[in-house]
Amino acid sequence: MLARLRNARSVTVLTGAGISAESGIPTFRDALTGLWARYRPEELATPEAFARDPALVWSWYRMRREMVARAEPNAGHRALVALERRVPWFTLITQNVDGLHRRAGSERVIELHGSLGRARCSREDTRVETWDEPEQGPPRCRACGALLRPDVVWFGEVLPAEALQAAEAAARDCEVFLSVGTSNLVEPAASLPWRAAAAGAEVVVINPTMDGQRAGARIHHLVGPAGQVLPQLVESAWPGP
Ligand code: OAD
Repeated sequence: MLARLRNARSVTVLTGAGISAESGIPTFRDALTGLWARYRPEELATPEAFARDPALVWSWYRMRREMVARAEPNAGHRALVALERRVPWFTLITQNVDGLHRRAGSERVIELHGSLGRARCSREDTRVETWDEPEQGPPRCRACGALLRPDVVWFGEVLPAEALQAAEAAARDCEVFLSVGTSNLVEPAASLPWRAAAAGAEVVVINPTMDGQRAGARIHHLVGPAGQVLPQLVESAWPGP
């Protein structure tokens, strides 16, 4: 397998919550703790939840934003920064909204599920990167006064079309596809590795457990945490100068 990776000039990577686990950010399907223990993420990250109780949804996102602000990118994020510099055609697709790839130094990142660092007007859809946090309740759009919502994709919403098209093209056209730290449960991101394999790419799945991951020709499994496995893989298949 290594020999095939070594010659690859086009690499696409899909990351999920697992790559940020070693930065101390719980994965999406880890049970919530503390004040949030009685909620499930699937019940908070929906348009219906926001319509019903925008203050509750905002305080959950506030908690997540604060957690991310305290976290630092880890060795897995940094290995992907090195890979971007060593491979001529490189695409990084993430389902994460934590912004840690960019903070690590990755330059081109397709954020399929949006970003915690942005909000948008619930009436006019305009995006903002800064807003005034009120003492209580959700912030409001400075232009029209409507509620702001986090600029993330919620359950039941469609993904940004341009980002999805770019991700699908990168999966179809690469020689090597790395699927890192994702449970592959949420479509359409979940299909990207298998589409890449069907189009002829070598697919490497990096995850401490193989639960729910597919097997097949050209699909390889590296079982372990991304912060250890990714740096080793990058250094052996695409060694630096
Ligand atoms: P999940 O929480 O579903 O899965 C996290 C994956 O990371 C699991 O397969 C874990 O085994 C793995 N994992 C845990 N620690 C790891 C480590 N140190 N290194 C590598 N892998 C590790 O998160 P996602 O697959 O990202 O979407 O979830 C996908 C989407 O589901 C999320 O983006 C979110 C949710 O619905 C939206 O909010 C739209």
